Amino acid sequence: MIDLMEPQVISREAYHFIAEKVYEHSRIRLGDDKQALVSGRLAKRLRHLHLDSYDEYCAYLESARGTEEIGQLVDCISTNHTHFFREIEHLNFLRDVALPEWVPRLTRERETLKFWSAASSSGEEPYTVAIVLAEYARANGAFNWQIEGSDISSRILAKAQAAIYDESRIQLPQPEWLSRYFQKGTGDFVGQYKVKDILTQQVKFHRLNLLQAQYPVQPNQHVIFCRNVMIYFDTPTQQELVLKLVNQLAPGGYFVVGHSESLLGIKHPLTALKPGIYRKNP
Ligand SMILES: C[S@@+](CC[C@H](N)C(=O)[O-])C[C@H]1O[C@@H](n2cnc3c(N)ncnc32)[C@H](O)[C@@H]1O
Repeated sequence: MIDLMEPQVISREAYHFIAEKVYEHSRIRLGDDKQALVSGRLAKRLRHLHLDSYDEYCAYLESARGTEEIGQLVDCISTNHTHFFREIEHLNFLRDVALPEWVPRLTRERETLKFWSAASSSGEEPYTVAIVLAEYARANGAFNWQIEGSDISSRILAKAQAAIYDESRIQLPQPEWLSRYFQKGTGDFVGQYKVKDILTQQVKFHRLNLLQAQYPVQPNQHVIFCRNVMIYFDTPTQQELVLKLVNQLAPGGYFVVGHSESLLGIKHPLTALKPGIYRKNP
């Protein structure tokens, strides 16, 4: 059946205008081949605003309501795909190398281990790390830790803060972690689980643009995960971002990017340790 409400094909001009707005606001670089993605993802937004074409949407972005709309636009365009225990080698590195190195020293100095999930999406990444840290504490003794998560999208951060996930989306290496760290939903929440307070109370979220001048997160982070977001940026933006994040790392801190990303072609002061894992000089 033809959807009579489906907006028209996106014009070249409208596409370039929208791509520029997205870049200005988020630095996400939409190449020349992303028309179908943009029109597909914005179709629902146009219907919501009762607009009939992408040209009308561009005019809306230029209107007084445009500033507010840009956040919605980036929300529609950005890819939030994530899952629990994604790219497990990085988590094993955390458990087997970074924590055994940091925790005894920080405990002696009565300091807190600080971890930042710099593009946290709907929260699976910071809560995964929270499980890894909590398990490490169970095996080796309690220590102080705190996780910060951040993302540009308010919509996705609201999901992260709610910390409620469909059962089918929670895949854990150890089945007993489900009852240890998640509360089973009842009534309206059947089929869903909520991350328990023992983890959520240690995880704080911020809305931020990774390219903004200053970050509201703690300085001297011991580990920063910036995974699966740099691929959406062009090289000058990646360069700028990496140096900003290195500034936010403690001496000897670890910086981790996604498996399909690397710092090749970027000037930085880090030592490469393993695929995607880098270290700032102590
Ligand atoms: C694909 S998800 C990655 C989630 C998680 N790090 C992982 O690897 O599973 C990318 C996230 O980056 C966020 N993002 C894109 N541009 C951003 C920017 N300029 N500042 C902050 N977050 C941004 C998106 O909203 C999205 O949630």
